[in-house]
Amino acid sequence: MTIEYFEEVLLTQEQIEKRVRELAEQISRDYRDGELILVGVLRGAVIFLADLVRWITLDVKVDFIDVSSYGYQTETSGIVKIEQDISLDVEGKDVLLVEDIIDTGLTWSYLREYFQSKNPRTLKICSLLDKPSRRRVEIYGDYVGFTIPDRFVMGYGLDCCGFFRNLTAIGTPSQEVWELTRRWNEEEQANE
Ligand code: IMP
Ligand code: MG
Repeated sequence: MTIEYFEEVLLTQEQIEKRVRELAEQISRDYRDGELILVGVLRGAVIFLADLVRWITLDVKVDFIDVSSYGYQTETSGIVKIEQDISLDVEGKDVLLVEDIIDTGLTWSYLREYFQSKNPRTLKICSLLDKPSRRRVEIYGDYVGFTIPDRFVMGYGLDCCGFFRNLTAIGTPSQEVWELTRRWNEEEQANE
């Protein structure tokens, strides 16, 4: 079945590719003298991290942390929970968190404090997207790919109801997508 996924495409595959390379170049320059560990925030950042790391020209390590805050709604619950921690020791290392999007800022503000307690040498965040108009805490991204308006988006790692992470562009879900996800949610609830 083919459906129209996006109501509006905000970022094309080409725009994303170009910007990811620029970020990787900047990171490669900035971390020349350290021991960089990229920590991807699951699951939204997986695609971004996979592309980003291939353009980084340093010897880096990669780890992941799994946090949940959104569930299956499009509004954050405000409660951040660590589902699975990193496995590398980051003490004395340069930690760069890799996120798909900074929205309310609650996840990054929570993770910043959490990682700070592991005593890294430096701690920064690289987020592909930033929605500054939605902030609930005063916080900013150190490396940001694109600043976007207050719209719910999917694609390139970002999900809508757990699906559509595999789309190569980023945009707002179409009416068809909303109807599909509503039906899937109903079916899931019926099976519980
Ligand atoms: P924050 O804690 O509100 O900053 O939200 C961070 C997380 O919410 C991101 O890592 C995403 O997983 C999710 N999120 C925020 N906005 C969107 C969106 O527009 N589409 C999909 N996921 C989003
Ligand atoms: Mg996320």
